[in-house]
Amino acid sequence: MKYQRNIIITGGAGFIGSHVVRLMVQKYPQYRIINVDLLTYAGNLENVADVADAPNYVFRRADITDYPAMLALMEEFSVDGVIHLAAESHVDRSITDPFSFARTNVMGTLSLLQAALNTWKATPEGFSGKMFYHISTDEVYGALEMDSPMFTEKTPYSPHSPYSASKASSDHFVRAFHDTYGMPTVITNCSNNYGPNQFPEKLIPLVINNVINRKPIPVYGRGLNVRDWLYVKDHARAIDLIFHNAQPGESFNIGGCNEWRNIDIVKLIISLVDSRLGRPEGADDDLITYVTDRAGHDLRYAIDATHLTSKLGWKPSLQFRQGISETIDWYLDNKDWMDRITAGEYKNYYSRMYGDK
Ligand code: NAD
Ligand code: DAU
Repeated sequence: MKYQRNIIITGGAGFIGSHVVRLMVQKYPQYRIINVDLLTYAGNLENVADVADAPNYVFRRADITDYPAMLALMEEFSVDGVIHLAAESHVDRSITDPFSFARTNVMGTLSLLQAALNTWKATPEGFSGKMFYHISTDEVYGALEMDSPMFTEKTPYSPHSPYSASKASSDHFVRAFHDTYGMPTVITNCSNNYGPNQFPEKLIPLVINNVINRKPIPVYGRGLNVRDWLYVKDHARAIDLIFHNAQPGESFNIGGCNEWRNIDIVKLIISLVDSRLGRPEGADDDLITYVTDRAGHDLRYAIDATHLTSKLGWKPSLQFRQGISETIDWYLDNKDWMDRITAGEYKNYYSRMYGDK
């Protein structure tokens, strides 16, 4: 079958990427979706098992830093679109292992850009009909004071952690490829996502899992840092909209307009999980354990998504109460997923499914 478009989605076995893959495979049967993922500790093919047999879905295990492999994939599938989510994504890991973040997030993005550039330049139509979409984070803007206005697309970059420095650097490379070579690119900077399939090193799934299993919940510092939380499926919807409608060189902020102090979100989750499990109110409040603060911990993130809302009409579909309740339900209903992830068994999933290919 000749597909209308051939789109590589990188990091499609991870948290956000899996929701983007599912949306694109199901919504656009006329597109071929090529999921390119190395399956690091954070990648899990179970996350996309429900679309694995779709005729318009292809999975390739590959490292985005491997330039010849990326070039070969672009050529093999006549790729005309890239939606790039693969990354090292956890701030705490970046503090102990910054090299991995520079390698994957900076060199990996550069390798994909260069592969797309060389493939697209060689086609008769050049950049026409092509798009390189880079998924980035609000953390590139640095930290806000409690009373500062929210981040806009014009806020200067000021990353603090090795993670955000690597993402900022990758954003600069994407802009450089637009400005230097005229490559059609778009960048989005999104706030904290939550929802099904998030690796339990991140705050929300970690808290849900620890309440279920009555394990201590580490709250960094005094728990007063503020994050803006967005339901992952709303992020995936925004990515679809922007991929199809952005002007080359454009960037958009994406956010939930939903700021929470960490300690308040932790208490809310404890109470919702306990209520779902029929435990008395307050039964697990003593799981909260204040621990040494994260080094360089950004105080507050908050996103002004006016540009996206006014230009493309996007807004979050779910109220936080509904989103967090649905998320808790998902983790309770998929306890086996969480148990396998936390046991490390997911690492063998690929070998079990596909042998040692
Ligand atoms: P994740 O850690 O859950 O998934 C990352 C995926 O990338 C995994 O499947 C992993 O196997 C894959 N990967 C890692 N290194 C690779 C490599 N060298 N080659 C190929 N694949 C590789 O991440 P996530 O939370 O889903 O985040 C996805 C993207 O969105 C990242 O770029 C992140 O910076 C950005 N982002 C995340 C959030 C959030 O709240 N999680 C918010 C804003 C932006
Ligand atoms: O803002 C977008 C970013 O959100 C993404 O770019 C990152 O990929 C994603 O990991 C996330 O970064 P954060 O550092 O904000 O998320 P995390 O879930 O690690 O932490 C959320 C807040 O909770 C933060 O203030 C640190 C705090 N925290 C986190 C953990 C894991 C705790 O207090 N205890 C914990 O155990």
